[in-house]
Amino acid sequence: MRLNDKIAIVTGAGSGIGKATALRFASEGAVVVCADVNEAAAAATAAEIEKAEGKARPQKVDVSDAGSAEALVKETLARHKRLDVLINNAGINRDAAMKKMAKDQWDAVISVNLTGTYNVCRAAMMPMIEQNSGRIVNTASIAVLGNFGQANYAASKAGVIGLTRTMALELARHKVTVNAIAPGAVDTPMTAGIPPEAKEQLVKRIPLGRMARPEEIAGLHLFLASDEAAYITGQVIFVDGGLSVGA
Ligand SMILES: NC(=O)c1ccc[n+]([C@@H]2O[C@H](COP(=O)([O-])OP(=O)(O)OC[C@H]3O[C@@H](n4cnc5c(N)ncnc54)[C@H](O)[C@@H]3O)[C@@H](O)[C@H]2O)c1
Repeated sequence: MRLNDKIAIVTGAGSGIGKATALRFASEGAVVVCADVNEAAAAATAAEIEKAEGKARPQKVDVSDAGSAEALVKETLARHKRLDVLINNAGINRDAAMKKMAKDQWDAVISVNLTGTYNVCRAAMMPMIEQNSGRIVNTASIAVLGNFGQANYAASKAGVIGLTRTMALELARHKVTVNAIAPGAVDTPMTAGIPPEAKEQLVKRIPLGRMARPEEIAGLHLFLASDEAAYITGQVIFVDGGLSVGA
C-alpha cells in the first residue's frame, strides 16, 4: 500500500482521469475526498470506492469559487485532521479558433483551469505548511505547446505551469512538493466529442499509436503522491505517448 492512511483530495473525481486517480489512490490505502462540481458523479465515485472496501467521501466543490475551495479543505481538516495530497485535476475546455472565441469562453476556461487551481492550492497549502509535509499535483496539458482552437485552454494550462514552478520554490522549505502533469490525448468524456476523423488523424501523430487510458495518468499521480517522489518538485511531466517529442 503506497498511500496507506494518507488523506487525499482529488478534484474532478467524478469523471475521467480524476475518477481513475481516486479509485487507484483508494486501492493503495488512501482516504480519498472525491470532489467535483457534479455532486452525483462525486458520490458515484465514492460509492464505487466503498463498494471495493476503500475509504472515500464525496464533496461538492466548484473550484472556480474561492469560498467553495476553502470549504472543501476546511471540511477535510475537520473530518480527517490533516491533508497529505492534493490532486488538482478539475478542468474544462470551450474550444474555438481565436477569430470566433467569445469572451465568456475565455473566462470560463481561465476561471476553472487556472484560477480554480490557484484557489484549491491556496486553501490546501496552509495546512501542509503547518504539517511540514504535503504533495500537490496540478494538471497542465500538451496544449501548452500550442493547439489549434484552444487558445483559452493552452493559456490556462501554461499559467498552471508558472504557478506550479513558483509554488515549488516557495514551499520547498516546508517540505511540500508541487509538480504538474501534462497529459497528451486521454480517452475520457472530455475527448469523447472529437469527431472520429479528427481522432484518427490525432492518433496517427502519436508515436505510441494510441490515446492514453485514464488509469495510465492515475499511475503518474500515484507515483508523484508516493514517498518515492519525495525529491521531485517543480517538474512538469508529459504523459503523451511521445506526442510532444520532436514537436
Ligand atoms: N482528456 C484529455 O485528453 C486531457 C489532456 C490533457 C489534460 N487534460 C486535463 O485533465 C483533467 C481531467 O480531464 P478529463 O479528461 O478527465 O475530463 P472530464 O471532463 O472527464 O472530467 C473533468 C471533471 O472535472 C469536473 N469539473 C469541471 N468543472 C469543475 C469545477 N468548476 N469544479 C469542480 N469540478 C469541476 C467535471 O464535473 C468532471 O467530473 C483536466 O484538467 C483536463 O484539462 C485532459
